[in-house]
Amino acid sequence: MTEPGWTLVLEHFQHPRNMGCMESPDAVSEDVNELCGDRIRFQLSRSPHGVGTAMFLGDGCAISIATASILTEKVTGLGLDEVARISIDDVIEDLVADVKSGRRQCVGLPIKVLQDAAHKLVAMDIGK
Ligand code: FES
Repeated sequence: MTEPGWTLVLEHFQHPRNMGCMESPDAVSEDVNELCGDRIRFQLSRSPHGVGTAMFLGDGCAISIATASILTEKVTGLGLDEVARISIDDVIEDLVADVKSGRRQCVGLPIKVLQDAAHKLVAMDIGK
């Protein structure tokens, strides 16, 4: 097992995956951390089983950008129920980072925005 550190956080912050605008997203959600002003937006496309692809835009700290980046890879192809179960601890484990309690919201913001967007995909299904 890899020792906790910041290598993966820095890699995703400096070279974020799937950052940009999706041409025709099926669901979009955005939110801001009122304490710091950092903002994350997720765009999702639908697949028959859940999330097709995920892209994000963000103006945030290294942890929030790295979280959003790693989430875009993590949720591709996942069912919406699986997306709903992603926790802060899951992502901290994925990031292999020693995220202190005062920075957990930096991980929580992108998760919340992603799950809000996934909830909109569920609502689309209900509306059919
Ligand atoms: Fe604002 Fe991390 S410092 S989300």
